[in-house]
Formats: sequence, structure tokens, C-alpha cells
Amino acid sequence: TQAPVNVTVTGAAGQIGYALLFRIASGQLLGQDKPVRLRLLEIPQAVKAAEGTALELEDGAFPLLAGIDIFDDAKQAFEGTNVALLVGARPRTKGMERGDLLEANGGIFKPQGEAINAGAADDVKVLVVGNPANTNALIAKAHAPDVPAERFTAMTRLDHNRAIAQLAKKLGVPVTEVKKMTIWGNHSATQYPDIFNAEVNGTSAAEAVGDQAWLENEFIPRVAKRGAEIIEARGASSAASAANAAIDHIYNWVNGTPEGDWVSMGVPSDGSYGVPEGLISSFPVVCRDGSYEIVQGLEINDFSRAKIDASVAELSEERDAVRKLGLV
Ligand code: NAI
Repeated sequence: TQAPVNVTVTGAAGQIGYALLFRIASGQLLGQDKPVRLRLLEIPQAVKAAEGTALELEDGAFPLLAGIDIFDDAKQAFEGTNVALLVGARPRTKGMERGDLLEANGGIFKPQGEAINAGAADDVKVLVVGNPANTNALIAKAHAPDVPAERFTAMTRLDHNRAIAQLAKKLGVPVTEVKKMTIWGNHSATQYPDIFNAEVNGTSAAEAVGDQAWLENEFIPRVAKRGAEIIEARGASSAASAANAAIDHIYNWVNGTPEGDWVSMGVPSDGSYGVPEGLISSFPVVCRDGSYEIVQGLEINDFSRAKIDASVAELSEERDAVRKLGLV
């Protein structure tokens, strides 16, 4: 049998953590042949709750779960980690300005980046889920100069999955017939779900829909504001679907994307599609052998160009704001 893979989860006592940890323990994060050792990071006040979840994990008697350790210190939590899921973040509270939000999150993601730099395994892969995810990933990356930049990613897979589901529903087809969906830009209300490069049954999804008004007035806002719709209905923010997306993101990164398809990931831009180098922006990516590549050569029409540019402009503003705060 293989040595266990060390998986660090921050915000382990939160609602996404609760939905995520059992799926990791059951082997869905990495695959059924890979034992995992969980390393949970929480703030001191929430360590007890994380310990409670650890008791329940024990009660799952998961064959692939090799151990659980709980920390309130980032340096220890990221020691030897192979997969780091950065879920815990500072939420925006009433009356909080964006600058305050970014500063508070800088206080979390800067030390976590430093801890990853200091102690993580050479093959570490980082997924930032905690919002603002793209810019939190940028902050962590900035403080881990010894880790290859492309290992820092942000989650737009939930948006990607939401877009697939809404498109499949509109066309009355199973989700499995929708391929090559792309989320471009920021994980925020400015994100752009692109159906012009998507395929349904092997033909253009935009042509199959043939309804620009639906695209502009229903599909794009529905996907971009789905988080608010969930809060309104559930009285709490998306948790199980977010955990599911985190599982999908890492599973594909580690095990590859299916032939003839791609996924969306927030990754450091190499300048592709006019996105300024270094920004962590969502792109279509293909994964193979534990690494990913941005899909090249896609046609971007004027409508898409304007949407991508608007979301990327927001990312640039967030980067400028954290630069001013000395966080990157
Ligand atoms: P939650 O509030 O239920 O849990 C967050 C947990 O993080 C809490 O237990 C808290 O104690 C912990 N935490 C705070 N600071 C920490 C630190 N410095 N180190 C370790 N743990 C820390 O929140 P929930 O619902 O689990 O969501 C977590 C984050 O994920 C939020 O920022 C949310 O906005 C984001 N999110 C992102 C999505 C995406 O698509 N990228 C989708 C849904 C949520």
C-alpha cells in the first residue's frame, strides 16, 4: 500500500469543512487507491468543534483514513502537506468596507502562505476556497516564493458546475452531455460563464440555445448570483455544493480531466487571453499527470471579450488594493 497523502483543511469546523471532510475520508478527493492523513487547522475557539468532527470521522471507520491531527497553528498544520484546502476565511460583515475585508483576509492568507512555503511537501497543491478566493490565493502565493506559482489556485468549479447544470436544464439534456464549459475571471458577481465555447452533444451550446436574451438576462445572472439564491432559500450559504466543487477541482488536478473536455480553475495567468500575467483568474484548463495547462486558441467573440475584460478589471483592482496594503 502507498504512503498516506497529507491533506490540510483550514476552517475545518465550518459548514463547508463538515461537508468536505467525510468525502475526503471516503476517498473521493484523490481516488480509491490513495490513503489520506487529515491535518485540520482552526482558530483556537473552534478547535473543540473540529475535535467533535474528528470523532465523527473516526465513527465512519473509513478504510482510507490513516489519521487526523488538529492544529491552531498554521506552521504545524501545513507541515508536510501535499494538498492544502484553504477554506477558512474572514467573511464580510455588515458595514465592512472592501479594504477592511481584504486586510482581514491578508491576516489569514499571508501567514498561511508563509507556512506552506516553510513546511509543505515539494509536490504541494493549493486550492483557495475562502473568499475573496482569487485574491486570497494571490496573497498566499506572494508569501510562498519557493513554491512554484502555478500550485496556487482558486475555486471557480462551483460556478462551472452551476453553469453546466443550468445549461443542461435549459436544453433538457443530462449534464453529462455538456462539455467544455468555461468560467472566466473572478469568483464574484462579475464572473463570465461562457457557452460560446461549450458543446452539447458535440455541437455549439450557444447555437443549441439560440437565445441571446436568455443568455444575458437569465443564464449569466443566475449563475453569477446563485450563491445569493441559495442563501435566500436555505438561510445559509452554499456548503455541500461548495465542498463538492472542491472535491472535483482537486480530483481532476490530481487524476486528469476526461479526454475531449476541460474544467475551470482560477490559476495564475501567464498572459493568455489578454489576462495580465500573475493575476489569479479563472480559465479553461486541461489536467494531466498532476499538472494543468490553460486551453489555448479559443475564439473569443466581442460579447465574451467585454465580459472577460470587466471581470479581469475587478481582479486588477483587488490586486492594486492588496498591494497598497503591502500584502503582495
Ligand atoms: P464558515 O463560517 O461556516 O466556516 C469557516 C471556518 O473557518 C470557521 O470554522 C472559522 O473558525 C474558520 N477560520 C477562520 N479563520 C481561520 C483561520 N485563520 N485559520 C483556520 N480556520 C479559520 O464558512 P463556510 O460556509 O464553511 O465557508 C468558508 C469560506 O468559503 C467562506 O469564505 C465562503 O465565502 C467561501 N465560499 C467559497 C465558494 C467558492 O465557490 N469559491 C463557495 C462557497 C463558499
